[in-house]
Amino acid sequence: MSNQSVPVLDFGSQTAQLIVRRLRELGVYSELLPHDASEAQVRALNPIGVVLSGGPASVYAPDAPSLPAWLPSSGLPALGVCYGMQLMSYTLGGVVQRPDAREYGPAMITRNEEHPLFAGLPAEQPVWMSHGDRIEALPPGFRALAANPATPFAAMGDDARRWYGVQFHPEVVHTTHGQALLGNFLFHICGAEASWRPTAFVAEAVERVRQQVGPDERVICALSGGVDSAVAALLIHRAIGERLTCIFVDNGLLRLGEAEQVIATFREHVQVPLVAVDAREEFLAALEGVADPERKRKIIGEKFIRIFEREARSLGDVRFLAQGTLYPDVIESRAPDRTKGVTIKTHHNVGGLPADMQMKLVEPLRYLFKDEVRAAGLELGLPEDWVWRHPFPGPGLAVRVIGPVSFARLETLRQADAIFLAELRAAGLYRATQQAFAVLLPVQSVGVMGDERTYADTIALRAITTEDYMTADWARLPHELLATISSRIVNEVPGVNRVVYDLSSKPPATIEWE
Ligand code: XMP
Repeated sequence: MSNQSVPVLDFGSQTAQLIVRRLRELGVYSELLPHDASEAQVRALNPIGVVLSGGPASVYAPDAPSLPAWLPSSGLPALGVCYGMQLMSYTLGGVVQRPDAREYGPAMITRNEEHPLFAGLPAEQPVWMSHGDRIEALPPGFRALAANPATPFAAMGDDARRWYGVQFHPEVVHTTHGQALLGNFLFHICGAEASWRPTAFVAEAVERVRQQVGPDERVICALSGGVDSAVAALLIHRAIGERLTCIFVDNGLLRLGEAEQVIATFREHVQVPLVAVDAREEFLAALEGVADPERKRKIIGEKFIRIFEREARSLGDVRFLAQGTLYPDVIESRAPDRTKGVTIKTHHNVGGLPADMQMKLVEPLRYLFKDEVRAAGLELGLPEDWVWRHPFPGPGLAVRVIGPVSFARLETLRQADAIFLAELRAAGLYRATQQAFAVLLPVQSVGVMGDERTYADTIALRAITTEDYMTADWARLPHELLATISSRIVNEVPGVNRVVYDLSSKPPATIEWE
């Protein structure tokens, strides 16, 4: 992994993995480990400090996760965040209580003294609070480092032990100087060096794939056109060369020129062996007359699996299957109760691979966050515009043609979408939005073109900004840009006479329309 790390022990907070990301952004390797990880597990990462994450529990709850027994005598510096701080206090002899009101949202705190943890930060600073319990009395050896009227112990520390706690969340963007505070913990308290880079990971992952696959076996990889499967394929190709075969299924639900681009990039530019399957008619026939979004997803998912299996079998005896699983998926699958809930859309069943394929998985991205995958992609020679591509749903344009899908309607949408994205790129705003696309509505309306009455289709434009795709806001695109896009679409795309812009946030809307 790395010759030094600062692991985060996971006490169940939604933002625990964000702490890991922030530490890596600061150039120090981190992983999220379960709160009850053994000392050996933690030591295997060469730790020079640990962070204890927040969590939903109260330290007094009967099944509340506890501080690992080995930690206090480990000699490692520690930073407790929210629940992590309360747990530190409670275990070391402080008092934690539940005040009448929970403190939630933005707050100002003032530091009590100059301290390395607050080096370079203003004396007063905005932070994000989200806690029910709070500390009423510090454990022996600790003193208060920052406070506000509602939270007298907003930060605490014991310099002899090098243990610190913050009641607020330094990992979220609303804590303006949170990243600097985490940096102070790493560099001033743990003595870390900012030497880890996601690109260091490339050589390591290549070596790991070589080890796993051995000298003779072959690997297959499904390419989707997105960044994850492409980077996974490039890493594996670097490790085992021509023993990797990529399979790309053109389902006819891709954007304008997308299939051609995938094929050209992989065959010509990076020279990875690629089997391209033209299954456009098969998918379209299966979708004939289907309007319900969940049925569309099911049909597309099943068809994909059947075609993939067929192609894989025709390659002979291949025992390894590559997947572009990312670190957040690994974390979520370890904590299933965090993802419990009603099904809004069956995202993960589409484009998924057969569970019963009896193949061993190769997952070279399983320790990486999305932005790190992008950095690795650039290092591996993936073209820049591919690396920064917005996410695209597995069922593709089928869930953006609202109502029944047909070849003609897909073509209309493809053209409108291409105009939207080309103009967004030309305005330099593609990367300022995290997802942007056109939707073809099942609504016709009256218009006038020249002296003629028209009764034609409506295109909705959707552009969002988001950090994590769980919540999103609509992008405030300039009116002039929207005007240009609208006028180009109605002039250049036959059968469209009206363009609307979607002003909904998520929640209550979702990002896609279906
Ligand atoms: P929603 O629409 O749920 O989308 O706000 C959140 C993110 O997930 C993508 N999405 C999908 N991805 N298969 C996928 O692989 C799907 O069925 C699917 N539906 C939505 C969506 O594009 C957005 O990035």
